Amino acid sequence: MSEFIKAGVIGHPITHSKSPLIHNYWIKAYGLQGSYEAIDIPPDDLEGGVKRLIDEGYTGFNVTVPHKETALSLCDKVEHNAQAISAVNTVVIEDGKLHGLNTDGFGFLNNIWDTAPDFEFEKKRAVVLGAGGAARAIISGLIGEEIGQIILINRTREKAEKIKDEMGFSSDLIIVGTWELRHQILEGADLLINTTSLGMEGQPALDIDFGALPKKALVNDIVYAPLQTDLLKAAQENGNVAITGIGMLIHQARPAFKEWFGLLPDVTDELRSLVLK
Ligand SMILES: NC(=O)c1ccc[n+]([C@@H]2O[C@H](COP(=O)([O-])OP(=O)(O)OC[C@H]3O[C@@H](n4cnc5c(N)ncnc54)[C@H](OP(=O)(O)O)[C@@H]3O)[C@@H](O)[C@H]2O)c1
Repeated sequence: MSEFIKAGVIGHPITHSKSPLIHNYWIKAYGLQGSYEAIDIPPDDLEGGVKRLIDEGYTGFNVTVPHKETALSLCDKVEHNAQAISAVNTVVIEDGKLHGLNTDGFGFLNNIWDTAPDFEFEKKRAVVLGAGGAARAIISGLIGEEIGQIILINRTREKAEKIKDEMGFSSDLIIVGTWELRHQILEGADLLINTTSLGMEGQPALDIDFGALPKKALVNDIVYAPLQTDLLKAAQENGNVAITGIGMLIHQARPAFKEWFGLLPDVTDELRSLVLK
């Protein structure tokens, strides 16, 4: 009989997480022996909570807000990508040791390729709005695909400068722009990505003028609630290909699932609909 695999997602609060739905869908779809739970661990109990998962025989876990950065310091081994992002979203437990990964960049790239399968990032110019945790993962993904240039713009400019410094890239690969000049900076862009929380339910819309944006540019909003943000509606009206954020959420789960359950699962329309319910 095959081994029963226990996995889960840790965070605080954790009830909002879509990860149990995604992973349990795949466990069922592939007829595997296992479970995936939402596990609430408050910040002051992170070390103890993780130790309990080791003791209870978990194969691994995902990490969400607010633990992504702090969990990294608990890992015995951290893959290069997660190190560059300064955050882990996936942990594999092997012989009581923690191996930290970050799969958000994979999720971002594969979401783009779902809609634009022939899009090549190499030598292209990307404008990234926002400099939070998601932006770091996306920048790491873009650099892995040999993007030509990233224009990074954030309301708080220092945070963009910090990403540029900490991620240690050459001075002309990431150019930090000014938030107020975000409209003009779109000139010559091949890809525009919103990683700010603007446009999310309960947040103001992202105010940006597409006048300078080439029609061939892809526009990706990683906000997925609502799915069709005002930014994406405006992109479509402008003639650009608009890419929603839900695929990033589902794709980032695939490498984690593979680490624990041994197979890289597919993203199906049925799963997309379930996640959007
Ligand atoms: N699709 C997916 O799989 C996926 C994955 C991760 C995150 N997300 C979404 O991405 C968004 C960002 O997540 P995160 O983890 O990176 O969050 P975060 O670390 O809190 O960063 C938030 C970003 O939004 C900016 N921002 C917030 N309010 C703003 C305003 N009024 N005007 C201008 N900029 C504003 C912040 O700028 P300041 O630095 O100036 O505060 C910062 O750059 C969230 O909506 C999240 O749900 C989606």
